[in-house]
Amino acid sequence: METIIYNLDQIGEAAQALRSGQLVAFPTETVYGLGADATNEEAVKKVYQAKGRPSDNPLIVHVASVAMVEKYAAEIPEKARQLMTAFWPGSLTIILKIKPGSLSKTVTGGLSTVAFRFPKCQPTLDLIEQAGVPMVGPSANTSGKPSPTTAQHVYHDLHGKIYGILDDGPTKVGVESTVLDMSTDHPVILRPGAVTKADIEGVIGSIDLNHHHVGKGEIPKAPGMKYKHYAPNAQVYIVDPEEDWANVMKWVEQQPFAVGVMAEDVILKQLTLPKNAQAFSLGNGVTDASARLFDGLRMYDDEKQVQAIVTQAFPAHDLGLAYMNRLNKSAGGQHFRDEFLK
Ligand code: TXA
Ligand code: MG
Repeated sequence: METIIYNLDQIGEAAQALRSGQLVAFPTETVYGLGADATNEEAVKKVYQAKGRPSDNPLIVHVASVAMVEKYAAEIPEKARQLMTAFWPGSLTIILKIKPGSLSKTVTGGLSTVAFRFPKCQPTLDLIEQAGVPMVGPSANTSGKPSPTTAQHVYHDLHGKIYGILDDGPTKVGVESTVLDMSTDHPVILRPGAVTKADIEGVIGSIDLNHHHVGKGEIPKAPGMKYKHYAPNAQVYIVDPEEDWANVMKWVEQQPFAVGVMAEDVILKQLTLPKNAQAFSLGNGVTDASARLFDGLRMYDDEKQVQAIVTQAFPAHDLGLAYMNRLNKSAGGQHFRDEFLK
């Protein structure tokens, strides 16, 4: 199958393909998603196959109205409604109890809850409305790889395996949505994103944060948390804020292979890069860095001789918490400091 790239004039054709059970990747403000009609079990099954995704990892259901949520949620608690009013459309995914029998087990991974997301991306809201059905949408990458922030990233991972891609250029936020479990009395963030704990607490009061790595034998709240994530082929090392980048460059120079260097412009400008260093700019500040992180990690996968990547850390609060959560996973928790002291 030759994967079609749809431009924004072709939303109607993309919607028609979805309605007929095909997979169509779609843009959002966070990352690109892999879309299928959430009410068509055969179509949803194809999503897991195309991504190579374990079948117990549930999918987010993308909607274009609160009325669509009402069709599939058992109930919408008052606090969840307040969050929808405050942050939708936007990067907050809300988990609610499912209306029994309303969506297949393939969507929910057998859980009694379902995650809803109303993305801030008009072409995709139009796509859902024209298809007339909610759309499942995991990130449109091969399972385990960094999420896609351009249509080209999606094409790279999934061409030949999916029917089409709706191209709306690079995504703005670059890290996936905040996932908030509202299915119990105690709301808890399962994955940090651009909508922060403080943002949410400003609307509904105190909530919990539980996004830490799940150990062997533990049952994770968000099944996706137990899988390896965001991993490029090269080893990734976190460069902590207190690190002296001159030392990092000394280490780079000693390596017998090419090393990727991901840092802000202000840092890159001051450095004398050794010959085997391949720089990638994270721009200026944590907002830029979040938007660019996955693009950089993916770029090094195409530069086969790069065997290590040193990447700048940011303070782990607000958007920085989301950035560091993704960077930690792609680094498997490895810090440059530990490597350098060896
Ligand atoms: O920004 C995003 O959220 C992107 C775009 C495409 O919307 N989507 C995305 O989907 O990141 P995905 O499938 O890659 O990540 C969804 C996460 C997974 O870790 C999954 O386990 C968790 O949300 N999740 C989904 N439904 C859940 C549920 N009912 N209970 C707990 N966790 C759930
Ligand atoms: Mg994903």
